Amino acid sequence: MTLAVYPGSFDPLTNGHVDIISRGARLFDRIVVAILVNAEKSPLFSMAERVEIARAVFKSLPNVEVDTFEGLLVDYVERRGAQVIVRGLRAVSDFEFEFQMALMNRRLNGKIETVFMMPAEQYSYISSRLIKEVFSLGGRVHGLVPDMVEERLRAKVGQP
Ligand SMILES: Nc1ncnc2c1ncn2[C@@H]1O[C@H](COP(=O)(O)OP(=O)(O)OP(=O)(O)O)[C@@H](O)[C@H]1O
Ligand SMILES: [Mg+2]
Repeated sequence: MTLAVYPGSFDPLTNGHVDIISRGARLFDRIVVAILVNAEKSPLFSMAERVEIARAVFKSLPNVEVDTFEGLLVDYVERRGAQVIVRGLRAVSDFEFEFQMALMNRRLNGKIETVFMMPAEQYSYISSRLIKEVFSLGGRVHGLVPDMVEERLRAKVGQP
């Protein structure tokens, strides 16, 4: 059985993340969405909210699990007995950082493989940071995030 871990801060979950997780759920026996504790010092969404949103969005996909972790990713992956780290690639700009992380993680634990996946093109320019910025300035993010995220943004930031 191949277990994959998809790590990130997911502050908040976007349809780009949802796309990658859905692809991963088809490719691997099980995929764990692993939300990083303390990725950002002041996240917009609390850890509890991020977990709640991801669980709600994937409630109908039984092989998607939502968990949290802190510390070294490879230690978490090893502890979970997983073999694969999943990462999404949006543009060339993601490549350099992801390349560094993949090779560092391989050096730290040579048994774990990093697998990259490309999202559908309509999601290839979205990031959590951009969603928060656009929404807070009154722009529409409909269709770029799950409906639940849009509702939560509205409750938190105000109505655009
Ligand atoms: N739209 C997207 N399409 C494909 N992969 C994505 C997309 N957005 C994020 N990812 C990938 O998801 C993983 C988790 O990333 P992360 O939690 O940093 O999301 P993010 O949207 O980049 O958030 P932030 O803007 O806060 O950095 C990374 O591998 C990242 O490349
Ligand atoms: Mg990012």
